Amino acid sequence: MTSGAVLRIAVFNGKGGCGKTTLAWNLAMGLGRRAATLLLDADPQGSLAYWAEWSGRDGIAVTVQEWGATMDAGPYAFVVTDCAPRLEAEELAEIVAGADLVLLPVLPSPLDLWASRRSADWIREQQERRPSLRAAFVLNQVEAQSALSRAAQVAIAELGLPVLQAALHRRAVYRSAALEGLSVYHMGKRASAAQAELESLIEEIVK
Ligand SMILES: Nc1ncnc2c1ncn2[C@@H]1O[C@H](COP(=O)(O)OP(=O)(O)OP(=O)(O)O)[C@@H](O)[C@H]1O
Ligand SMILES: [Mg+2]
Repeated sequence: MTSGAVLRIAVFNGKGGCGKTTLAWNLAMGLGRRAATLLLDADPQGSLAYWAEWSGRDGIAVTVQEWGATMDAGPYAFVVTDCAPRLEAEELAEIVAGADLVLLPVLPSPLDLWASRRSADWIREQQERRPSLRAAFVLNQVEAQSALSRAAQVAIAELGLPVLQAALHRRAVYRSAALEGLSVYHMGKRASAAQAELESLIEEIVK
């Protein structure tokens, strides 16, 4: 894949079920409203595969493909890769080596944060080799009103990666959108809060 003005985002955390696919999918749809976006599914569970071909639908320019040898080379402004929840995954090093930014979704609980420790350590090692690699946690399934516990703040500080200001809250609309094969951008007004938090996230990472 060519570089240039392309922003390549890998969504990864070795901890399962933290929201990688939810973030990758909805983020790609938000980016696809701005410019041509390729969403790559690097998880052999293939949860994105059945969301199939999106390019052009509803004015959202997102192409969904499996990560692998036959990947489309562009022209894309954004490439988002949904990674498998395994630090040992063969393709992970290759994906991260080709990424500008790694987003690590994490639930805002001390236990989930500590379970992300090996992933955070590994990403920081990659940054030591390549300082231009950006990486940040994205808090996911945040409960309305609740502040981060002191223990969670300590855990985040010790993991040594920044946390995006924008967070995804726990919202039924993320689940129902996925069930219907849609993104929150296709759910109208009932998803406006979810759309707004994704837009904040996009503004934060696309600078
Ligand atoms: N912000 C959210 N609000 C409500 N439900 C959510 C949210 N984020 C994720 N979920 C739900 O949590 C579950 C796990 O999310 P998801 O599949 O995105 O995680 P994952 O990290 O991709 O999992 P895996 O490690 O298995 O690939 C799904 O049922 C999803 O719909
Ligand atoms: Mg997943």
